[in-house]
Amino acid sequence: QASSLFWRSFSHSSSRNAFGIAFDIDGVLIRGNSPIGGSPQALNKLYHPEGSLKVPYCFLTNGGGVRESKRAIELSKLFGVGVSSSQVLHGHSPFKQLAHKFENDFVVAVGKGEPAAVMSEYGFKDVISIDDYTLCFDNIDPLAPQKKWTVNGSSEPSPELKKYVRSQKVQAVFVVSDSVDWSRDIQVLCDILRTGGLPGGEIGSQPPLYFAHDDLKYQGAFPTERFGIGAFRISLQSVFNSIHPHPLQYSAVGKPNPLAFKNAETTLRKLYNHMIANQDCGGISPFETLYMIGDNPSVDIKGAQEAGRPWFSILTRTGVFRGKENDQEYPADMVVDTVEDAVDFILDKEN
Ligand code: G3P
Ligand code: MG
Repeated sequence: QASSLFWRSFSHSSSRNAFGIAFDIDGVLIRGNSPIGGSPQALNKLYHPEGSLKVPYCFLTNGGGVRESKRAIELSKLFGVGVSSSQVLHGHSPFKQLAHKFENDFVVAVGKGEPAAVMSEYGFKDVISIDDYTLCFDNIDPLAPQKKWTVNGSSEPSPELKKYVRSQKVQAVFVVSDSVDWSRDIQVLCDILRTGGLPGGEIGSQPPLYFAHDDLKYQGAFPTERFGIGAFRISLQSVFNSIHPHPLQYSAVGKPNPLAFKNAETTLRKLYNHMIANQDCGGISPFETLYMIGDNPSVDIKGAQEAGRPWFSILTRTGVFRGKENDQEYPADMVVDTVEDAVDFILDKEN
């Protein structure tokens, strides 16, 4: 299917060179909860018949909201392959590298799923979800009586917890995954970011604010792209900057941040070392090529380009990108229709 492949210059590597693959998830392997682009077949090609791994690969997604161990089980079921938690890199996974900095600080975790459980697993010892935090203050969300839904897993906090939360200054905020209730979260985060969250408290310096990623949009089950954390960030920033003398300070740790690609490389190196009879190449990358297969030019392709060699970017047409040739702003090294086309190309080239 030569016509479906768009190919930019890239030097061929010898067949014996080591390589690894990082897969984006939304818009490449799944849409909503359904596999797309022959993804189960594509992933199965990376295993020996008895089920052991033939090619080091990982998932490098900006999605998340659940612990990597839980996601590994979900992905294993979805694709019919054995995925280990070490192969799952969520947008929020780099927060683990910040745990030592905020280990005993009181921090708030925002987003769908189980954001506080994710942060606890990373080593944060005093973390509360924004759902539980909000329940500790009466009338904090004036629209709450109009909201008919119930919050998953949250129950009326104990008097002790309420007392503790009401007396603590929040030291940092981590947006782990998509905010479920933008109006409440923008309201409550503006309080926290201006005063540390103490009701009626003095306006002081803004606590650090970290986002798992800054994706404006992503491809879900709906035909048109949906807003991601980046859209929530713009909304929060717009309101915050309208009421605060200093502009919002924040950082985002997922793709296209080079840190995310560095972590993927480290993960793939460890897998590779394990696969070649537990040999350790130390910190030196054994890879001639690392393939990033993504659907979002400004996130997956931009990130791979900025990470530099040995990254080689492959753009699929199953998600955010739907063009005939290549993206104008962030052209990939190669464009294919589906993830299965990408894996076929890689295996053909490397074997
Ligand atoms: O919310 C997830 C979305 O922004 C991107 O996920 O797998 O395309 O990086 P993914
Ligand atoms: Mg994607």
